[in-house]
Amino acid sequence: MNNFYSRALRNQTITLSEEDKKNFRQKLLRINNPVSLEQILNKVINQDIFKVIDLLPTKSIDLLFVDPPYNLTKIFNNRPFKQMGTMQYMEWMELWLKKIIRLLKPTASIYICGDWRSSSAIHLLCEKYFIVRNRITFEREKGRGAEKNWKNNSEDIWFCTVSNNYFFNAGAVKLKRIVLAPYRERGMPKDWTEEGTGKFRLTHPANIWTDITIPFWSMPENTPHPTQKPEKLLAKIILASSNEGETVFDPFAGVGTTGVVAKKLRRNFVMVEIDEEYCLYAGKRLQIAEENSSIQGYLNGVFWERNTMNKIKNAEKKVLVNKDDKGIFSNIKGERQ
Ligand SMILES: C[S@@+](CC[C@H](N)C(=O)[O-])C[C@H]1O[C@@H](n2cnc3c(N)ncnc32)[C@H](O)[C@@H]1O
Repeated sequence: MNNFYSRALRNQTITLSEEDKKNFRQKLLRINNPVSLEQILNKVINQDIFKVIDLLPTKSIDLLFVDPPYNLTKIFNNRPFKQMGTMQYMEWMELWLKKIIRLLKPTASIYICGDWRSSSAIHLLCEKYFIVRNRITFEREKGRGAEKNWKNNSEDIWFCTVSNNYFFNAGAVKLKRIVLAPYRERGMPKDWTEEGTGKFRLTHPANIWTDITIPFWSMPENTPHPTQKPEKLLAKIILASSNEGETVFDPFAGVGTTGVVAKKLRRNFVMVEIDEEYCLYAGKRLQIAEENSSIQGYLNGVFWERNTMNKIKNAEKKVLVNKDDKGIFSNIKGERQ
């Protein structure tokens, strides 16, 4: 029967049934005493980070990813976060950041997200506690236009390390771009290759990311969380700054993007999130990841320019009609990246 209120067919937003809630609730962890890494590895801790931070194991984390509430008034489920002055926001951040340092290995890397309002506080605090290596800025496709201001269309991620002894794998996070002006030297392609229906160049990862799509309703990773990070963004960070089998920690985990991507890329995770419903979504996403470890926009070991995969797939479809060759995109569904 046609339901007037049924979801649009292309809406892939993850939902939770009552059965899901019951199942995933059982898997959530709550801790009241100091724990070892084994006790919390690959688990979602459903508590206030301020209550658990002193109970977590020392020098156990290889990679810290923090996506805290930004310095904006925003409601996370029923919990409001209120915008404050920059100094006040810095004080709030310092309360948890200085305690997280104990958890990090001397070789650990740290990534902290913020928008333009939060970014200066993050920078100053990072300089106080870590070695600041870079500031990544990524373009948000989404964003409301403003009448009397520039549309807020970017976010920052501060990249730091605990020491000079740290791991960084630039080769794992190269970006594949379509070559618009393919240059040849003595008849040979200069720094590009021809594959299937296109000419491509693999470029070094830079500190400006224009290939990120914020999750929205027709993406299978989407949930109702208001500030969910894209899996592709986490994949870049995890691949560049950790090895398989290492441990990633996220103290403001939301619907679990960090853990989901860590799992897909064979890393371990520890996540803390105060809101139970978000933790349940994380549980569901982790279950989905067991069956499907694909990450939109990341294929065959490379990241693709935003929406490039679709263009090439469509071109391939035209070229491959009545041919046996399945082309380089035969193994993925039609998806935006
Ligand atoms: C910006 S969101 C993180 C989104 C996440 N990166 C994702 O992709 O889903 C910040 C999260 O911090 C959670 N949070 C706020 N205060 C917290 C606290 N004291 N302890 C743990 N989590 C908290 C909020 O509920 C919210 O889900």
